[in-house]
Amino acid sequence: MKKIAVIFGGKSTEYEVSLKSARAVIDAMDHEKYQILQICITQKGEWRLLSGDYVIDGKSERWLQTSTHIQPVISEASKGLYDRDQMEFHVPDLIFPVIHGQQGEDGILQGVLEMLEIPYVGCDVTSSAICFNKKLTHQLAATSGVQATPAVTLTKQEIPEVFIARYGYPVFVKPLRGGSSIGISKAHTEEELREAMEEAFRYDRIITIEKAVDGIEIGCGILEQQGERIIGSVDEIELQAGFFDYHEKYHLEQAEIHQPARVSDAVKRQVAELAERLFVSFGCRDLARVDFFLDKTGEIYLNEINTMPGFTGQSRFPRMFAELGIDYTALIELLLQNYLGSED
Ligand SMILES: Nc1ncnc2c1ncn2[C@@H]1O[C@H](COP(=O)(O)OP(=O)(O)O)[C@@H](O)[C@H]1O
Ligand SMILES: [Mg+2]
Repeated sequence: MKKIAVIFGGKSTEYEVSLKSARAVIDAMDHEKYQILQICITQKGEWRLLSGDYVIDGKSERWLQTSTHIQPVISEASKGLYDRDQMEFHVPDLIFPVIHGQQGEDGILQGVLEMLEIPYVGCDVTSSAICFNKKLTHQLAATSGVQATPAVTLTKQEIPEVFIARYGYPVFVKPLRGGSSIGISKAHTEEELREAMEEAFRYDRIITIEKAVDGIEIGCGILEQQGERIIGSVDEIELQAGFFDYHEKYHLEQAEIHQPARVSDAVKRQVAELAERLFVSFGCRDLARVDFFLDKTGEIYLNEINTMPGFTGQSRFPRMFAELGIDYTALIELLLQNYLGSED
């Protein structure tokens, strides 16, 4: 029986989102066929092996109390995961990291997994790190002929005077590296800009300020099956007000996801082509969701590339493939089979 470790949680602002994504991933796996190790990295950064299924129970997390301490071991004699409470050594056949945000989606965890020499699902160190950095993403995309809205990065010592004089308001202010819209605000005035910068600096020492795009958001997922790319159905986020912030992403009160997007086939083809081009030029692997803006004049701008997009059954990425007939269970199995082969 193949042993698969699903690693989730993580020391990032998206800990709770990861619990939800991982719950869905674990539930979709064939428990008869695979031995599944559920590893939660706590908000303090401790690695825990769960003895039973966890439930999403808000802050209490009683299930963590019965967990054991597990740690990556990279020694001359052995590489793997050591459960120091049970004194048991695990060498999974595959690791599926289901962590969004810092230390999970930015190449850091991937680096640990590379050193463990255990195969893992998803983008590698470099592509994860680049995609997690909003400015680097835009710069590298430009070299592939894909445009993004003008942006400037700043540290605490700098002020965006020149940028604002040139592009005006409104602008989006973001931590350079983040997710789930945490720390992001839209600013229409100098006063709002000051507050937005202060907020973004709470999450990163570098922030990025972008000219707001007046239009709609559209996205396209890319999935790899044995090295062949499958292009997901393009979706659209319809916003009634504001922007796609943390609350809206998980409650969808003012926002609605349209699958498929209500745009022309020509736009869908163009978005799919750009998404695939970026996936390839960034060296992405297995999966990524590429998000764009379509402005009122029909111009398409890259927003960002998510190497571990939301992964619940209702999330955008799985829905892009469900639309093509690859349901959630099939999607997970396909990702596992990229590494495990189909002999068992
Ligand atoms: N330049 C922009 N123009 C218009 N809306 C934007 C812009 N940047 C971000 N947004 C809005 O903010 C949301 C979150 O920004 P994004 O860069 O995707 O951050 P995250 O990585 O947290 O998802 C987007 O989904 C969109 O609604
Ligand atoms: Mg986003």
